[in-house]
Amino acid sequence: MLKKDEKKIEKKREKEIDKLIKKLTLDEKIAMIHGASLFRSGELARLGIPAIETSDGPMGVRAEFLDDRWIPVGNQDDMVTYLPSNSALASSWNTDLAREMGHVLGAEARGRGKDVILAPGINIKRDPLCGRNFEYMSEDPVLTKAFAVPFIQAVQENDVAACVKHFAANGQETDRLMVDEEIDERTLYELYLPAFKAAVQEAGVYSVMGAYNKINGVHCCENKKLLDEILRKEWGFDGAVISDWGGVHKTREAAECSMDLEMSIFPDFDDYKLANPLKVLIEKGEISVDTVDAKVRNLLRMMYRLKMIGSKREERKAGAYNKPEHREAVLRGAQESMILLKNENRILPLDAKKIKKLAVIGANAVIQHSYGGGSAEIKALYEICPLAGLKMYLGGNVKVSYAQGYYVPQNKTDEGENWQAASVDEDRNPDMGKAVRDEVNDSENRRRGEEERLAKLEREKAEAHEKNEKLFAEALEMAKDADAVIFVGGLNHDYDVEGCDRPDMKLPYEQDMLIEALLKVRKDVILTFVGGSPVEMPWREQAQTILWSYYAGMETGNALAQIIFGEVNPSGKLAETFPVKYEDCAAAKNGQFGKWGNIVLEEGLYCGYRHFDRQRIKPAFCFGHGLSYTSFEYSGLTMKAEKGKDVKLTFSVKNIGKRAGAEAVQIYIAPIAAQVDRPDKELKAFSKVELGAGRSKKISLTLKQEDFMYYDAQLRKFIADAGDYEILVGASCEDIRLRGIATLS
Ligand code: GLC
Repeated sequence: MLKKDEKKIEKKREKEIDKLIKKLTLDEKIAMIHGASLFRSGELARLGIPAIETSDGPMGVRAEFLDDRWIPVGNQDDMVTYLPSNSALASSWNTDLAREMGHVLGAEARGRGKDVILAPGINIKRDPLCGRNFEYMSEDPVLTKAFAVPFIQAVQENDVAACVKHFAANGQETDRLMVDEEIDERTLYELYLPAFKAAVQEAGVYSVMGAYNKINGVHCCENKKLLDEILRKEWGFDGAVISDWGGVHKTREAAECSMDLEMSIFPDFDDYKLANPLKVLIEKGEISVDTVDAKVRNLLRMMYRLKMIGSKREERKAGAYNKPEHREAVLRGAQESMILLKNENRILPLDAKKIKKLAVIGANAVIQHSYGGGSAEIKALYEICPLAGLKMYLGGNVKVSYAQGYYVPQNKTDEGENWQAASVDEDRNPDMGKAVRDEVNDSENRRRGEEERLAKLEREKAEAHEKNEKLFAEALEMAKDADAVIFVGGLNHDYDVEGCDRPDMKLPYEQDMLIEALLKVRKDVILTFVGGSPVEMPWREQAQTILWSYYAGMETGNALAQIIFGEVNPSGKLAETFPVKYEDCAAAKNGQFGKWGNIVLEEGLYCGYRHFDRQRIKPAFCFGHGLSYTSFEYSGLTMKAEKGKDVKLTFSVKNIGKRAGAEAVQIYIAPIAAQVDRPDKELKAFSKVELGAGRSKKISLTLKQEDFMYYDAQLRKFIADAGDYEILVGASCEDIRLRGIATLS
């Protein structure tokens, strides 16, 4: 569509919005800007303005809840496609998949009658212990934004708003409602904001979710600098800002900044900060009604874009959920997301024809992860666990035996009550609104809740220990005379979960002890893991094969089996560093993670591989690492400066092995003699290339001038210093295959 036509349509829409606003009473305006149900805003039937239906989350459309209780409705019509987590998706390094998954999520959200899907989660993975790392993409802003943009665009092509979250720097779960994060300007602009900026300026995201935490003393949902200066003025965002659930604390501050829709976990909807308390201040003349009009305008604009109102209503897409092609896309996503970390002596892929007896050991072979994790929980149509995937793949000629190996305490949740219900359980709190609000906001209570949780984990450890002796013996016995042994361990949503950070980076339930014992009886054991964040692997030198899967959705078991038996050639690469031990991490040294009250991001830009590079600390497996069943050779790097600003790179990649495969090539820049302190190297571009056996492909990538920039906090803008930059072409951030020097004039 021509630019001038777009302008005309926009003008017409703005006029219609103005006309609508003039018709609204104050009560009607206020009804639109706060929750009228746990996942819905107020409807204005009189004027045909519908409620905005929202739903979680990044891995699929969450089950239906009662309007005012955190209790699932429990019908048999809200099972959905359970997608790979964002951490799995980013590990594919294939942005076409981001578009495919975005389309699936958008179509399913629309199919379930939703207007806003509360996804994707794109916070930078600052520390491996963050409980919600599984919901986020990467430790690197370039990789994150490369996935966020197509994902959001594809969601919104289904006439559903993506709600990119959590804006901004929601990097820990400890004290998440109140923690104040002290972040210097340059770190904020170079590390924590770029993916959100791309969501706004490149993807045209329709809504943004304000985060729970504070940044430099002010809650994100009441933060004029964040929501007005940066989001609206600098970036030009004209969509809707939705608070995280309970993220608004003060009426005046939220009213007078660009927070458009207050959602919360309490059912006292008329007592929300932007409900009656705001009306009182307006009627007292302390706050102008213009502040409400501005919010209503943003919400109406989003509703027009979604064809919820206006002349295009009849054209709105219907969407659909649980379509077969959605599940096929999920399988592809799972296949491309898994990461072969180690494969000595080419033990993998296994040859099914040579196996009569297969031993599968480990609780994660049979655990279903879909219903856990917090707001990302999914009522999946089905979930293929690893053991099922292996049996389905092998069929009846292989005897597959299973041993739990290590004990996992079943996480007892009261029948029907959801984890978010705990904070509004009216039996415990007769005066739900105030008492719970105090309880949720009172940090002593929340701290006690955290201590109770840690004590529970300790009790579970003791419980596991007494059960493991027998389980270990059983597993080792089974491993002895099997033709092949596959261990399936890792984490689960007792550890990768919203609202809590992990106490450490170790595998729980004494898995390390079992793995070491297994390696003694079967050094060829295939070690596979399902988890949402890095773990320590003290046995990694003795291990010959390590295959890592994030929570990869309903087809995880099928994809894992297809990779183990070679039907699929693994092509995933790490989108986050796997440290040797937690003590090597930045925040472990400065203690600025997982604290109550406030944290100071002293490490600044040095997050993830930037930290490990600068400190010269070798990780267990580095950012960008991932093996294939074939090998790739890189050659012939040439660079051409274009217009003195952009640098065009060309090089060739050849598959020198005997089978087809895909390789994610990575481009890093390393400033030589930089005039300011800059990370040793930074990812600036990547591309995933599929190659048949023996085939070669010439790859061209262009580094734009902004790829060389850093944020100058004094000048308050991004600048690129003239000078030489080393260009690194790598198979990972450590495995640099080609180098060149680019000179920026
Ligand atoms: C939660 C989460 C957010 C989610 C919302 C609704 O607390 O922080 O990601 O979308 O509330 O469940």
